[in-house]
Amino acid sequence: MYKAPRGTTDILPADQPYWRYVLDAAERLCRRYGYQRIDTPLFEDAGLFNRSIGAGTDIVEKETYSFDDRSGDRITLKPESTAAVCRAYLEHGMHALAQPVKLYYISPSFRYERPQAGRYRQFHQWGFEAIGESDPTVDAEAVSLAWDLYKEVGITGLTVLLNSIGDAACRPGYIQALVAYYRDHVNEVCGDCKVRLEKNPLRLLDCKVPQDQPIIAAAPKTSEYLCDPCKAHFAATRSYLDALGVPYTIEHKLVRGLDYYTRTVFEVVPLEKTGQQTAVGAGGRYDGLIEALDGKPTPGIGFAAGIERIVLNLKAQGVAVPNPNQPQVYIAHQGGDPARQQAVRLSQRLRDADVNTWLGFGDRSLKAQLRHANNMGVTYTVMIGENEVQTREVLLKTMATGADEHIMLEQAAFRIAHKLTGGV
Ligand code: HAM
Repeated sequence: MYKAPRGTTDILPADQPYWRYVLDAAERLCRRYGYQRIDTPLFEDAGLFNRSIGAGTDIVEKETYSFDDRSGDRITLKPESTAAVCRAYLEHGMHALAQPVKLYYISPSFRYERPQAGRYRQFHQWGFEAIGESDPTVDAEAVSLAWDLYKEVGITGLTVLLNSIGDAACRPGYIQALVAYYRDHVNEVCGDCKVRLEKNPLRLLDCKVPQDQPIIAAAPKTSEYLCDPCKAHFAATRSYLDALGVPYTIEHKLVRGLDYYTRTVFEVVPLEKTGQQTAVGAGGRYDGLIEALDGKPTPGIGFAAGIERIVLNLKAQGVAVPNPNQPQVYIAHQGGDPARQQAVRLSQRLRDADVNTWLGFGDRSLKAQLRHANNMGVTYTVMIGENEVQTREVLLKTMATGADEHIMLEQAAFRIAHKLTGGV
């Protein structure tokens, strides 16, 4: 029997209310912050990700799903959407619009990772990008929008980690200092870090091996090497975050795993770390990215959250979510075709009145249908038997109390819809 490919999941009906709840909140917040939706293709030219995320990063080197299509073009399933959104910004001449252009997306993403709880090979991101403005208020606003999502959906116990990794002017000086420091400790670090030191020194700070932690803790800090403009930008970002009341912790080790970042980087993580999978969302500024994609120098900043991780947190914290697909009314009937005819007509009227209605099928007894209605958790069951056909009434049962009352068939749909919206 076939199974879903490793690292992928079916989003079953029981999970859909969580997804709807998160996505509704995300879209509501995007409206509040002035973002417009964009959808980009699921696959792009492989070169786009090499140039943006970086050819030497784990994502591009080890995790992309890439293949040659039938005409020999090298294609990659997108591992994230920032590069694709910047490509669209350039392709559609969005620099001519009022800046910043604020775009959000909800998109599947693909990474060939080792699957575990909260880490999948196909996952979904809600994310946003503000392109064309370097003002630190935009940085603070981006962190604030990210933070608002978790607040809006009711997840607690999180915090924002914040850092500045400088720009093209000051980062080389920092990397030089970091490399010099690690050369002095090369015999104490893990095997992977010996490789990182040669290939991608910033990633040294990401190492999770316990023996390397004291070395990371004493390493030079990015913030100590910022040039004056980056220092001022970081200070202003922090002051606006304070003004917005967004809680954050400065994390000197935070450098992020994608090459395009400059200046502000941030992650939303649980206050208490459990397991390996920590970030429920992450983002940062990428002032060199548009230029790396052959555009004019254009600043940008954004964020993306893994929806699966948010749903896991909602469940772990027992957050109750509404289910808009919940059947509200069950129509049970018994008494042959006349009862069935009335039931069918009533189902149509209820649905016209926007009531989620389940029409009983087959020849099951009223008792069996009532049991079914109870299992479904409907608010009301309408019963139509031979008597009701004669009197042109229906018997309306309130499931929570067991109370029932006869109401006129003609008025039933209106009365039930009214009751469901809080009327009596
Ligand atoms: P990222 O840190 O690679 O950044 O991913 C952002 C979020 O996506 C993570 O914090 C996590 O919640 C989720 N995520 C990543 N990989 C997986 C996975 N394998 N399974 C489940 N969830 C995952 C980016 O993607 C950047 N594009 C964010 C950004 C937007 N920066 C600027 N703009």
